[in-house]
Amino acid sequence: MKEEQKVEAMNSAPDSAEAATPTAKGKKKRKKMSRKKFWSIIGIVVVVLVIAGAGMWKWHEEPSFCSTFCHIEADYVANYSQEQGVQGTDKYGNPVSNTNAMMSVLHRSNDTTAKSEIKCVDCHVPNMEELAHDGVNFVSGNYYLPRTERDGAALMKWDGKESSQLCANENCHSYLLGADGKVDRKKLEKTTADMEFNPHDTHHANLEMQCTTCHKGHRASVVACTGCHEHENVEVPDGWLTYQQSQDLMAKSFGNE
Ligand code: HEC
Ligand code: HEC
Ligand code: HEC
Repeated sequence: MKEEQKVEAMNSAPDSAEAATPTAKGKKKRKKMSRKKFWSIIGIVVVVLVIAGAGMWKWHEEPSFCSTFCHIEADYVANYSQEQGVQGTDKYGNPVSNTNAMMSVLHRSNDTTAKSEIKCVDCHVPNMEELAHDGVNFVSGNYYLPRTERDGAALMKWDGKESSQLCANENCHSYLLGADGKVDRKKLEKTTADMEFNPHDTHHANLEMQCTTCHKGHRASVVACTGCHEHENVEVPDGWLTYQQSQDLMAKSFGNE
C-alpha cells in the first residue's frame, strides 16, 4: 500500500480517525470526551490497579514470586517443593535419603498447625531492609554460588531478634516459649525426652546451640552433638547426618575437598 492510500484508508475508518497521523488532524473535529466517560475510564483504571496490587500482594507470598524476581532462589523453591518423606536432594544437589530431614520440606504441608501450608515467607518473614540489601547484591552480582549458608542468627538479625525466634515465636512452636518470650530450653528438652540420647538435653548449659546448627532448612539436618559424642549410641534420625558427615558434605558442596 502506498503512503497516501494508507492515510486515506485510515481516514475512512471512523474509529481510527482520532489516532490517525498528523495529516488527518484538523480534517475531523476531535470530539470532546464526556465527563461521564472520563470518570468511568478513571474508575476502570483504579479498579485494575487495585486488583493488580492485591494480586501482587497475594503473589508475593507464593514461592514462585521469590524465584521470578531473583533467579538464584530457584534452587530453594525446587528444594522446598519436593515430596515429603522420600529420597530427594538438598539445595546443593546432594542426595538426601529422607526429605523430612530438611525443615522447609517437612514443614511445607502439615496437618498439625492451623495453617495447612507453610510458605517461604512464614519462615523468612519479609524485611524491607533485608530485601533491599539482598536486591542490591543480586543486581550488582555481588554473591557467590552456592550461596553461603546463613544460620538463624544471620536470618533474624534484620528484625533485631535472636536466632531461636526463627523457629519458636508467637506463630510457630509457641509452646516452647518461656515467660520472657524466648525459648525455654527445659521445655524443649522435654519434647525429645524419650530419645536415648536427648539432642535437646541441657547438660551443657554453656553450649546452647542454635536450632539451625542441627535443624537445616534446605539440606539434611545434623545431630551436631556427634562432633564430640561420636562413640555413644546417639540416635541419628532417618535422613539426618552426623557432625562429620555434615562437615564432609559442606566441603564437597563448596569444592574445598
Ligand atoms: C543438637 C541438635 C539439635 C538442636 C540444637 C536443636 N534440635 Fe530440635 N531436634 C533435634 C533432633 C535430633 C530431633 C528429633 C528429630 C526426629 O526425630 O526426626 C529434634 C526434634 C525437634 C522437635 C520435634 C519434637 C517432637 O515433639 O517430636 C522440635 C519442635 C524441635 N526439635 C525444635 C527445636 C528448636 C526450637 C530448637 C532451637 C531452640 C532446636 N530444636 C534445637 C536436634 C536438635
Ligand atoms: C521451615 C522454615 C523454612 C521454609 C518454609 C523456607 N526456608 Fe529458607 N531457610 C530456612 C533455614 C533454617 C535456613 C538456614 C540455612 C539452611 O538451614 O539451609 C534457610 C535459608 C535460606 C536461604 C539463605 C541461603 C542459605 O543457604 O542459607 C535462602 C535464599 C532461602 N532459605 C530461601 C527460601 C525459599 C525461596 C523458600 C520457599 C521456597 C524457603 N527458603 C522456605 C528455613 C526455611
Ligand atoms: C565440644 C564437645 C561436646 C559437644 C559438642 C557436646 N558434648 Fe556433651 N559432653 C562432652 C563431654 C566432654 C562430656 C563429659 C563431661 C561433662 O559431663 O561435661 C559430655 C557429657 C554430656 C552428657 C552427660 C552424660 C554423659 O554422656 O556423660 C550429656 C547428657 C551430654 N553431654 C549431652 C550433649 C548434647 C545433647 C549435645 C549436643 C547438643 C552435646 N552433649 C554436645 C562434650 C561435648
